[in-house]
Amino acid sequence: MDPNIIAPGRHEPLRTGAIGTGLAMERLHWPALSRLRHHVIPVAFAEPNGGSAARFQSETGLPGSARYADYRQMLESADIDAVVILLPIPMLFDAAKASLEAGKHVFCEKPPGGDLDRAREFLELERAHPDRILFVAENFFYRDDLRLARLHLDQGVIGRVHTMSWRISGQYVPSAGTFSSTPWRHQPGYRGGTHLDGDIHMMAAMRLLLGDVAKVHGLVQHANSLMGGPSTFVLNLEFANGTVGNYSAIHPEIVVPPDDSRLRL
Ligand SMILES: NC(=O)c1ccc[n+]([C@@H]2O[C@H](COP(=O)([O-])OP(=O)(O)OC[C@H]3O[C@@H](n4cnc5c(N)ncnc54)[C@H](O)[C@@H]3O)[C@@H](O)[C@H]2O)c1
Repeated sequence: MDPNIIAPGRHEPLRTGAIGTGLAMERLHWPALSRLRHHVIPVAFAEPNGGSAARFQSETGLPGSARYADYRQMLESADIDAVVILLPIPMLFDAAKASLEAGKHVFCEKPPGGDLDRAREFLELERAHPDRILFVAENFFYRDDLRLARLHLDQGVIGRVHTMSWRISGQYVPSAGTFSSTPWRHQPGYRGGTHLDGDIHMMAAMRLLLGDVAKVHGLVQHANSLMGGPSTFVLNLEFANGTVGNYSAIHPEIVVPPDDSRLRL
């Protein structure tokens, strides 16, 4: 048996519908879902873009009749237990809400909303549907290396953490075939820009290792005319466990020399 394939569970595979089958489906979700066929079977998908739809169909072998132009129609008509939502950030909430209201379990890409109010509404959605699973797909929180680091911290291997520092920098411009090429990222309908989109993973990692942040002081800079939102984000942080530190994310349109991007504790 292929070692990558998890043994069949004692439950029937989840019949799943995909909402949006763009780059995240191609690069991240399908490579994982295709190894989980004893647990998850794609049966329907909603995708208005012809190219993305054709690629997903050829990967999954789904017939043309499995494609819906409108996800609300899919939720109404397709025989599915769960959905995986891979839409541009401003569209995630409405799709998650409609899916839960249609009685589906939801695996929704991050972030939960484009601002704090939306994030609170996301939490409210979970409370309003206690019999369904609403899972937000942030993946750093589940990385084995970061979980191992957390275990070492919990076991006191390096003693008490006093300070942290992390500086991530790199030129960020639209580049064909990468996530930066998608037009909705060039003019994001959310003010955090790339920091809400990509750097949310660093925030998840810091939170996994050090827990909640108690105080934050931050500055932003706008030095990128090609990608919307602030290019640079500099934060001083105090964590509830007493650790203090600094996190900087620097993504201008100019070339940035190679830098040390390791998190230091
Ligand atoms: N966890 C990660 O590491 C990671 C990485 C990349 C992207 N993402 C997340 O994945 C999501 C999608 O990002 P992406 O890079 O795949 O974007 P994308 O633009 O490549 O894909 C979005 C797809 O949604 C489709 N779409 C638009 N309106 C639709 C509608 N009404 N119904 C159905 N489909 C519709 C588009 O045609 C497109 O194919 C975002 O929420 C992003 O934050 C997560």
